[in-house]
Amino acid sequence: MGWSWQSFRCRRTVATGGVATLLCTVVSVMFLIFAGYKQADTAQNQVTDAWNRVVPLIRQGPLPEILDSGEVSGIQVVDDRGHVVAATRNLAGAPPIASFRAPDTQVTTARVLCPPPGMHGCMTVFSYRVFQPQGPWVLYIAVPTIPWYGQTASLLLAVGVSVLIIAILTGWTYRDLTRAISPVNAIRAELAEITATDLGRRVPVPAKYEEIRYLAETVNDTLDRLEEAYARQRRFTADASHDLRTPVTAMRTRLEEALLHPEDADWPRTAEAVLSSVERLHRLVTDLLSLAQLDARTSLHSDPTDLRRLVATELDHREHRKKIVKDLPESVVIDCDRLRIARLLGNLLDNAERHATSQISVSVRRDPSAAVVEVVDDGAGIATEDRKAVFDRFTRLDAGYARDANGTGLGLAIAREIAMVHGGTLTIEDSDRGARFVLRLPTADRQVPA
Ligand SMILES: Nc1ncnc2c1ncn2[C@@H]1O[C@H](COP(=O)(O)OP(=O)(O)OP(=O)(O)O)[C@@H](O)[C@H]1O
Ligand SMILES: [Mg+2]
Repeated sequence: MGWSWQSFRCRRTVATGGVATLLCTVVSVMFLIFAGYKQADTAQNQVTDAWNRVVPLIRQGPLPEILDSGEVSGIQVVDDRGHVVAATRNLAGAPPIASFRAPDTQVTTARVLCPPPGMHGCMTVFSYRVFQPQGPWVLYIAVPTIPWYGQTASLLLAVGVSVLIIAILTGWTYRDLTRAISPVNAIRAELAEITATDLGRRVPVPAKYEEIRYLAETVNDTLDRLEEAYARQRRFTADASHDLRTPVTAMRTRLEEALLHPEDADWPRTAEAVLSSVERLHRLVTDLLSLAQLDARTSLHSDPTDLRRLVATELDHREHRKKIVKDLPESVVIDCDRLRIARLLGNLLDNAERHATSQISVSVRRDPSAAVVEVVDDGAGIATEDRKAVFDRFTRLDAGYARDANGTGLGLAIAREIAMVHGGTLTIEDSDRGARFVLRLPTADRQVPA
């Protein structure tokens, strides 16, 4: 990946470099101020030493013409008439290096001269007034001017160490981030190559960097679910196409046969057969549409509803071929889309009618946490291993197919979706005999309007 200002690695590296530069600058400046202060202190001591050495010679003599410079750069003694009477060897015979004197109220003063006459470079020249019987003499002591950072070597040391620290920190940050980000890049590259037809691939899971490992594992889990959903969707499309084609093929064959010998054809029977296929087609398309609407989670038209009354009405509106045993002791109010819950109940009752031997029991009750509807028949029941599959789209067990070849296998899938969009569940539970479907829906706090 290139070097872009938008990249986390670039920003973090520059930020680290910036912070390191700031810290190094602050520490270096403090160090240099301290070094400069120490240097200035040393120079001051050297000047004091020179003063201590020369003033007794001026006052008590003998004052040699050539003075020992000691650790200072130059010394001159100028008498009351302005003549140089003694100087260090480097200033021997030279005119006075300065002309300023301390004001009358002070014994000493100092100035920076760049350079003083007869000398090189900037010097701090100290002027001392030395009282003599014939008039005040002046003692000039020159030392190199100390910049605020002390010596150049200190400055070079501070700059060198700072640059080294900044380079090490920045380089280390860049290298560490490059290492940390490389698994992310690998995940990104792999994800970019995964397409809808290639959902079997998985992103690499790094052994190091726990957060990135979790990310890769989550991405792989998501890919697992996507692959599963995609396979389910493909199966569904294939099943739907197949089921839609069957009645269309039947109609076509029937019509082609009739048209082959139109004068011999039994047109009313042909029309009846075609109508039956159209009805099946209509049922299938309606079911598919319901599923699509439920999948899209289109808004529910929820109203507070008395579930007991809804179940009773649904039972009253049906023609029963089997005996119905009702157990509807109490009102239970739920918030629901009545049409959809009626559709769910209709599906369960249709199935029970189809599979029951003689009797169907329907009950409504209130659990501590939910409204519960049970539809139990006394048929062959559903084996435990089939209880998950019957809710899949287009799943029909052999027994179901034998009892009604016209079923679409979408009824229970739709019923479970309806339960789920209402925040409830639809399950098959154990029973002494036959199938026992249990619908649980959240109860409502509201009351049913009178
Ligand atoms: N009460 C029941 N007893 C035994 N088997 C059942 C019962 N209800 C459903 N089944 C089985 O579950 C399968 C799926 O049921 P589902 O309601 O989804 O489809 P269907 O009834 O075959 O068709 P559709 O409801 O779309 O007309 C049925 O084909 C049947 O094999
Ligand atoms: Mg059904």
